Amino acid sequence: MQRTPLIAANWKMNGSAALVEEMVDVLTALPLTEHAVVVCPPATLLTRFPAVCNFALGGQTLSHEISGAFTGELSACLLQEAGASYVIVGHSERRALNGESDELIAAKLARAVAAGLTPILCIGESATERQQEKTQQVLARQLDAVYASQPELLAKSVIAYEPIWAIGTGESATPEQAQTTHAFIRQHLARYNTQSAVRVKLLYGGSVNADNFTALFRQADIDGALVGGASLKPAEFAQICLAV
Ligand code: G3H
Repeated sequence: MQRTPLIAANWKMNGSAALVEEMVDVLTALPLTEHAVVVCPPATLLTRFPAVCNFALGGQTLSHEISGAFTGELSACLLQEAGASYVIVGHSERRALNGESDELIAAKLARAVAAGLTPILCIGESATERQQEKTQQVLARQLDAVYASQPELLAKSVIAYEPIWAIGTGESATPEQAQTTHAFIRQHLARYNTQSAVRVKLLYGGSVNADNFTALFRQADIDGALVGGASLKPAEFAQICLAV
């Protein structure tokens, strides 16, 4: 089955109103296929993008609660109202810096899906876990936690494999390393449901740039990328978008 590619930009806590304008100018000039690109800026910038453009918008996290006295949190509905149709869930930076557990991430994913947002679920192992040959164990645990919470959530998500050792380091996984791990993820998803395992988009994230993306994207189980640093450079991000 043919999966349509997806390139997602995660600006993290970077960007500005000026970068929004620059990115919109560059991306709207491209012949992008519908639903092929999603930009996830800091939430305060979401409404600075045009209401209609040739790419989608996403949040970088959301609350697992619907609404209420949760100072500083953002609900799925608020993200939607600001223009988001996607949301990143379980990024390793939030797992590490905000103590987000597998269970909390599953609850956030459920909230996103219930609200009609497409979650981009991030999973990945640390350098130590890779050295200890625990990559598959870690990924399986992260996926199993979501499956155990609600079996249908994974089929409604995009999954981004982000080896933590390759995030922001300039050291990307090789295309072969990335393919081996993506193939494992798809096989693991097939244990839950063979049909949805074939359909789920798997993105690679970890120092993707215009130079390494083409080789990564040629791999059978890599359906696109979650791009951090390079997504802050409109010309380079455009090159990546055009490679799919
Ligand atoms: O969300 C994006 C990933 O953390 C990758 O970031 O491309 O700067 O390595 P990076």
